Amino acid sequence: MEWTKQNVRRRNFGGTSEYVAGPGLAFLKNHYQVGAVADIGVWDGRNLPLLVKLVEERGVVYGYDHPEAEPAVLEASIRFPGVSFKMGEIIALPFNNGELSAVLCWRVLHNLTAPGQLDVALRELYRVLKIDAPLLIAVRAFNQERPWSRPMLLETKNPLGVCRTDLCFTGSACEVVLSNAGFKVKNIQLLCEEGTSDGLPYENKYWAINCVRGGRCYVG
Ligand SMILES: C[S@@+](CC[C@H](N)C(=O)[O-])C[C@H]1O[C@@H](n2cnc3c(N)ncnc32)[C@H](O)[C@@H]1O
Repeated sequence: MEWTKQNVRRRNFGGTSEYVAGPGLAFLKNHYQVGAVADIGVWDGRNLPLLVKLVEERGVVYGYDHPEAEPAVLEASIRFPGVSFKMGEIIALPFNNGELSAVLCWRVLHNLTAPGQLDVALRELYRVLKIDAPLLIAVRAFNQERPWSRPMLLETKNPLGVCRTDLCFTGSACEVVLSNAGFKVKNIQLLCEEGTSDGLPYENKYWAINCVRGGRCYVG
C-alpha cells in the first residue's frame, strides 16, 4: 500500500477523529438500530459527540477507560453529563453478554502488549456486543510494509526521544486477528496522522477497521 498525501490527515487535537466523524460514523449508522453503545478507551471524550449523535434517544452512551485515565475521564464526565462513565480494564468489561449495540475502540488495542491480552480483549468485545453489531476500531500500523499476519511488538521513539512499545499491525494481521475473534471485517483503511509535539513533527499510521460481530457458526 502506498502512503499518499490523500490519506494523510492532520490530527485535530481536542476534536473528533476525522475518520470517525466521516466514514466511521456512516458505518456505525448503517449497522446500529437501537440500544446501548460504548466508547472503550474514551480518554477525554473527543469522539463522544459522534456516539451521542448516533444514538439520539435510542439508548445509553457509555464512556469506558482504564483507571489510569481518570483525570481525562473526569474532564469528559463534566463535558458530557448525559453519558455514563465506567472505569476498568478492557480485558474485563463491566457489561452483560450482548448488552452493547455498537462499540468504538479507537487507538486502544495496540496498547495491549502483555502476552495474550489482545486475544482476551477481543473475546470481551465479542461477548458484550450483540450479533451483527458494529465495532469500529483503530490500531497502530507499521511504517513500512511487512509480511506478518500477526501483530508484532515494536519499539518506537517519539520526536523527543521517548521510547514506547506498541503492538503494530499489518492489514492482513488486522483481518486474521479479528476474523479469528469472530468478527466479520467489512473495511480496512490506512490513515496517516501528522502533527507536532513540542514543536517537533511526528507521524502516526493507523488501520481504521469496520467490522461486525459474527454469530455462532456450526459446521457438520
Ligand atoms: C491513544 S489513547 C486514545 C483515546 C481515544 N480513544 C481517542 O481516540 O482519543 C488510548 C486509550 O486507551 C486506554 N487504554 C489503554 N490500555 C487500556 C486497558 N488495558 N484497558 C482500558 N483502556 C485502556 C488509555 O487509557 C487511553 O484512553
